[in-house]
Amino acid sequence: MDSPAPHPESGTIVLVGLMGAGKSCIGQRLATRLGLPFTDADDEIEKAAGCAILDIFELYGETAFRDGEKRVIARLLDGPAQVLATGGGAFMNPETRALIASHAVSVWLRADLELLLNRTARRADRPLLTKGDRRETMERLMAERHPVYGAADIVVDSANESPDVTVERVLAALVARETAPETA
Ligand code: S3P
Repeated sequence: MDSPAPHPESGTIVLVGLMGAGKSCIGQRLATRLGLPFTDADDEIEKAAGCAILDIFELYGETAFRDGEKRVIARLLDGPAQVLATGGGAFMNPETRALIASHAVSVWLRADLELLLNRTARRADRPLLTKGDRRETMERLMAERHPVYGAADIVVDSANESPDVTVERVLAALVARETAPETA
C-alpha cells in the first residue's frame, strides 16, 4: 500500500549521498510522487559550464568544479520548491550544507559499499572513480563522508530493491518528520 504523500508545500527536498546511492533515480520518482519538479545539480553544473563534469575536472580541476557546484546549488535552493539531487561531494561543503539546512529538507540515501561499487561500475563519467582502485576510493569516501552525511535531516537506506520501494521509504520518513512533535 502506498504511504500518504507529504504536502508538497513542505518545500524543497535535497538528496545527498555517495555516487551510486540512487539520488537521481530516486529523486525523479520522488518528484513525480510529490508533484514537484526534479533537478539534477550535476546536469545544471554541466549546462552552466557548457561541458561534461569529466572535462571540468580535467580542464579546470576539482576546485573549480566545487566552486561551480556551490554556486549552482545556491541558485537552485533560491528557486521554487523542487526535488534536488546533488553530486556526492556537494554536502561536504559547509556553506552548501548550511544553505540546504535553511532552505530544504535533506535526505541522505545511505547505501553499502558493494551496492555503490556495483551501481557505479556501469558508468565511466565520474572523475573520482576513473583513477586508482575504485573499491579503495569508495571506502575512503565512505569514511570521510558518512559522518557528514549523517547531519542530513533524514536518513533512508537505499538497498538493492525496486526504486519504488526506496521512494516509499523516503515518503514515509518525510511524513514521519512532518508529523513528529517539535523538539526544542
Ligand atoms: C562527485 C559525485 C558526482 C559528481 C562529481 C563528483 C563526488 O555526482 O558531482 O563526479 O564528489 O562524489 P554523483 O554523486 O551524482 O555521481
